[in-house]
Amino acid sequence: MYKKSLLFYTLTYFATTHYVFGAGDEDIRCVASSCKDVKCSSVPKQCNKNDTSTGIYMLSPDICNCCDYCLYNLVEGEDCTIGDPSNPKHYSICGPSLTCVAEENQIDGTCQKMSTECALKQQNYDKRREDGYLGTMEIRANCDEDGFYDTYKCTPGQTCHCLHLNGSRIFGEANFNTIPSYMPCACSRAYYDAVEVIGRELYPTEHFRCTENGNYDHVQCINEKCLCVDTEDGAPTFPDDKLVPLNKVTNETLTCYKGDKAGNYYKECEVAYLEIRKEVLAKKNETGANLVIGYSYPSCDLDGTYKPVQENKTHKYCVNKQGSLLTTPLEKNSQLAQTMDCKCARATVIMTSAEKPNCLENGNYNSIQRRRGLCRCVDQDGHQKCSSDEKECEEVEESEAANLNCSF
Ligand SMILES: *[C@@H]1O[C@H](CO)[C@@H](O)[C@H](O)[C@H]1NC(C)=O
Ligand SMILES: *[C@@H]1O[C@H](CO)[C@@H](O)[C@H](O)[C@H]1NC(C)=O
Ligand SMILES: *[C@@H]1O[C@H](CO)[C@@H](O)[C@H](O)[C@H]1NC(C)=O
Ligand SMILES: *[C@@H]1O[C@H](CO)[C@@H](O)[C@H](O)[C@H]1NC(C)=O
Ligand SMILES: *[C@@H]1O[C@H](CO)[C@@H](O)[C@H](O)[C@H]1NC(C)=O
Repeated sequence: MYKKSLLFYTLTYFATTHYVFGAGDEDIRCVASSCKDVKCSSVPKQCNKNDTSTGIYMLSPDICNCCDYCLYNLVEGEDCTIGDPSNPKHYSICGPSLTCVAEENQIDGTCQKMSTECALKQQNYDKRREDGYLGTMEIRANCDEDGFYDTYKCTPGQTCHCLHLNGSRIFGEANFNTIPSYMPCACSRAYYDAVEVIGRELYPTEHFRCTENGNYDHVQCINEKCLCVDTEDGAPTFPDDKLVPLNKVTNETLTCYKGDKAGNYYKECEVAYLEIRKEVLAKKNETGANLVIGYSYPSCDLDGTYKPVQENKTHKYCVNKQGSLLTTPLEKNSQLAQTMDCKCARATVIMTSAEKPNCLENGNYNSIQRRRGLCRCVDQDGHQKCSSDEKECEEVEESEAANLNCSF
């Protein structure tokens, strides 16, 4: 929390000293000449613009952000101060994965390692790397500045998927080989935040629509009214534009719309879902019944396509996003059907690499995976796992795969 509150204090300082008290009747719009008379103090010499690990550049506490403003990173054990609004003169901040820890009621403390689950994972990884115990397919956890899990996680050569703050896998997956430098996963994360507040899963027409990789879909239609939003943060791209009725949506009325037919917003699964909903509502009206049975809704994902695992009364099976079978249907009461997650089957569809993962009959990852001649254990998301921190991560030749025990 330290870094964020510091930014807040910086902005508060900026507002109180320059806007409320300093600006008076002056025109406070920033133009090129606004910086002419501003005296900038130099940034700490420890801040190297070419190397972001030495410090962070942020909004400077002057009205038009004229000056370079940088806080250099402190290392573990160095003295730090917890944000104090009466003292705007900050020059330093605890470096990555460190946080300022002070005694109760004190504002001065020392930089210490964060102890969030993600930060501890990183420390464990670093320790095992030093000891030479790392598995070759392991990746260091990415944590955000507060020590929570970053937005996504990858299996090298295969796919990357979105993560909840708490590290659980959530909707959103992309090809490892073509992923841009970062996956924000903001739409996907916002959905699960909403679920937490509302206390149940949301229906296709109740939530923002995401894209396959967990971003926001460019076009959003809510209550049959549509608008364009930013794919990374979901903010309306043209906030002053009128909402366009769904049936009038074309590439002329809505600039972000790419479809060829007017109003062609809903995807196959959503269409199927809405059809059934219409029938159910009609039945309710006709019979006056509160509950209509005998209909089963398809299970749609956050991007409006079919969820990986689908089922009918007797069977469970994996489908692709269009709803076509990827695996042979299994009887519902079988062990393999009960644990079915289809994650491996779906990853295989997204991947372009020839080295596909080994999937079980139910579309899950086989807990033993082979790559580049060696076999290793993986978890249900296909990430390498090791049985112990105290010895080398198990990796064996293919001929010895039978000796590999991955049930931990
Ligand atoms: C940063 O990089 C630029 C161009 O690569 C170089 O000219 C400059 O000297 C570097 N600055 C520092 C402080 O290393
Ligand atoms: C993380 O959050 C998600 C979504 O709220 C929840 O379903 C999941 O159980 C949580 N996982 C852990 C490990 O707390
Ligand atoms: C809009 O769609 C029409 C019909 O598909 C196409 O001919 C036209 O080029 C599109 N216009 C834009 C701006 O994309
Ligand atoms: C039920 O159907 C009738 C006739 O189709 C319609 O007039 C009425 O508005 C409907 N009621 C509801 C609650 O949808
Ligand atoms: C469920 O799906 C399986 C496999 O496609 C099929 O054989 C079976 O008849 C279906 N059952 C029902 C009740 O639709």
